[in-house]
Amino acid sequence: MELKFEAVHTVVRRGTSPAGDPAWIVSDYRTVKKLLTDERINRFPHPDTADPARFTTAEILQFRQLDPDTPPPPDDLIRRMVATSFSARRMRALQPEVQAITGELIGTMRTAGPPADIRTDLAEPLSSHVISELLGIPAEDREKVREWSDASVDLADPAVSGRADQALKEYMNRLIEDKLEHPAEDILTDLLRFQELEPQLCSRDLVIGMAAGLRFAGQINTVTLIDRGMYLLLTNPIDRAALADPKVLDHVVEEILRHPHPVQRRIAGVPRYAHADIEVGDAYIRKGDLVILDLDDANEDREIFDDAESFCPARRENPHLSFGYGPHYCVGAALARLELKAVFGSIFGALPDLRIDGDLESLRPRQHQLSGGLMELPVTWGRN
Ligand code: HEM
Repeated sequence: MELKFEAVHTVVRRGTSPAGDPAWIVSDYRTVKKLLTDERINRFPHPDTADPARFTTAEILQFRQLDPDTPPPPDDLIRRMVATSFSARRMRALQPEVQAITGELIGTMRTAGPPADIRTDLAEPLSSHVISELLGIPAEDREKVREWSDASVDLADPAVSGRADQALKEYMNRLIEDKLEHPAEDILTDLLRFQELEPQLCSRDLVIGMAAGLRFAGQINTVTLIDRGMYLLLTNPIDRAALADPKVLDHVVEEILRHPHPVQRRIAGVPRYAHADIEVGDAYIRKGDLVILDLDDANEDREIFDDAESFCPARRENPHLSFGYGPHYCVGAALARLELKAVFGSIFGALPDLRIDGDLESLRPRQHQLSGGLMELPVTWGRN
């Protein structure tokens, strides 16, 4: 195929990854969705590429180039590894606990009195508690593991993310040793069982990588979605009392998932590498190129969503791509929805006049983590 790199289509453009390397950025809904199931692109840099473009400088977010003689892992490997852990039965069983922790955290905020920070007082402790319980991380280790997990996805400083990545994986390795001795009903034990059943597919390193990956995946996106949802609900006219109705809540949560964060969108979409030359619109994507599928842009595609740029809590048709699509659809989607519903379904019952504390202009964007959002979201309530 003749290469024409200057060719740029409005939906596929030349840009850069968060690491500053060249990438194709795909923005329209239909193309993003199609490429998410296209077998000519996948997460691993093509084995023949001498110096593949990096997605980010954080090691934990970068898929390694595979050995040319090693077949790529099956697309459904991660899903199979965690099928039991995220089964509908486990998620249903978790609902009352998630609800109870959310209630306790909101109660503590209320007792302590205003102001509070939605991220540090509610979103972070909630998602940290839930994913730590699920993984089987002992209570006394949770804070240091949370710090490593957060730092491992820091885009600003590769030295910081590299050290944290190593510490997190060393910790998971020690915890795995312990789980081998003392199996429990938790994700680490499920992963070890999978490894025992499928030793050809699943190495100890893969179990460690999955445990570390689930620890950060279980936290950063969910926290930012809580911050995003609170911002959207507190800056738009909505019927707060109606959120107690589960049907209304379902639609509101899906719209929060769809609508990009108004202050700081995701820093980048999801990465893939071309394993063949592909023509997309006017663009010629060459084998080996990095392709970033911009989910925030796709979720605002006017050809798919009416009034796409507005936050419409009553929106009914909402086929957003926030959890991806196809073989790598988010395994934690049900868990994330559980946490989002617990928060947005109960916070206004406890704090009906909740509002942002201070000027919107003073809110600081979070630019060092892929999920974007805010550095903090200060809120207040009552007469002050
Ligand atoms: C609102 C919160 C969340 C959002 C917006 C989100 C978003 C996503 C997206 C877009 C993907 C697809 C990535 C791709 O195609 O390359 C994904 C995959 C994944 N997510 Fe989530 N996620 C969230 C919460 C969670 C939670 C709570 C967990 C686990 C505890 C989790 C674990 C995963 C895993 C393991 C994958 C990889 C699946 C695979 O490759 O088969 N996510 N997530």
